[in-house]
Amino acid sequence: MAETRSVVITGASRGLGLASAVLLYKRGWRVVGAMRSVDAGMQRLREATGADADDPRLIGVTLDLTDPASVAAAAKSITEAIGAPSALVHNAGISAAGMVEEAPISLWETMFATNIFGPVALTKALLPSMRAADRGRIVLVSSSSGVRGMPATAPYSAVKGALERWGEALAGEVTSFGIGVTILVTGTHDTEIITDAGTTDSRDFDGPYAAHHHTMDKRGRAAMKYAAKSPDRFATALAKALDGKAAFVRRSVGADARMLLIMNRVLPGAWMHTMTRLMMGIPRFGALGGTPAATMGAPDASRESDIDG
Ligand SMILES: NC(=O)c1ccc[n+]([C@@H]2O[C@H](COP(=O)([O-])OP(=O)(O)OC[C@H]3O[C@@H](n4cnc5c(N)ncnc54)[C@H](OP(=O)(O)O)[C@@H]3O)[C@@H](O)[C@H]2O)c1
Repeated sequence: MAETRSVVITGASRGLGLASAVLLYKRGWRVVGAMRSVDAGMQRLREATGADADDPRLIGVTLDLTDPASVAAAAKSITEAIGAPSALVHNAGISAAGMVEEAPISLWETMFATNIFGPVALTKALLPSMRAADRGRIVLVSSSSGVRGMPATAPYSAVKGALERWGEALAGEVTSFGIGVTILVTGTHDTEIITDAGTTDSRDFDGPYAAHHHTMDKRGRAAMKYAAKSPDRFATALAKALDGKAAFVRRSVGADARMLLIMNRVLPGAWMHTMTRLMMGIPRFGALGGTPAATMGAPDASRESDIDG
């Protein structure tokens, strides 16, 4: 009889994590939902799966990624409940809107605590058992914003970029122990994170970036409405990724993310900068400052080249 595979999913209380936990449970996985509010989260999971309260294939573990003691306690509970997980999905995350000048440093700190430091600590705590089991897959849920730095969401872009570099480094370290790493560059899905209520908003619509915000807000909402897919689509992609055997995989989830990955691979960085600016309706180089762009000798002075060349 085949062994029941086990998966730990952070942020399983709602959104992509909830949809993924439900699908994997229905496909026979033993699911550990790691979340801040276990009572509410488990109730949602049981309603969606039909699982009983004492079902050993659906387990809730308390986890607040910003609290090192909570991460350590969660790792202990996970190991006691299931031993070495077959898969660890770093899904939980927060996003933010606002320019670098507008976002407080405390937001950067929370962003990195939630999306990087907590996941790294949880991974460190679970790796010894996964190494001993000589198998496993670690999935990092990244975003299109992690492919390139996106204006008005610098902390989120920076943390997702860091997540991806961490995943690449980790893959090289754990591959000999039979543990693979998958990065899912996720496009827009219909969850709370893309709503006003689901993100931290530091934008000042009356400040120096007002012109940016008004246009970007309008275009961003239209693009999200058009592009947002059901969380179930993500769950299906994750399930497929968990069947993967490669030591390292970086894969897009959704056409918008796929398109961005391709463009970023083939186009020079300066072009990507200009395209992003045009798509978001950001005023051209120098348009709002004291130095007219013409005197700089370039319509949109963005370059990426060797400084000697
Ligand atoms: N939806 C998209 O369009 C999209 C696109 C690209 C990437 N992503 C990524 O996909 C992942 C899931 O996002 P989502 O769309 O499902 O967003 P969501 O609906 O806002 O869910 C976020 C999840 O993260 C959890 N979380 C937040 N802070 C936490 C903390 N300190 N400790 C533990 N858990 C915490 C939340 O738990 P609570 O219920 O306790 O708040 C919730 O379960 C994120 O990493 C996000 O960056 C999403």
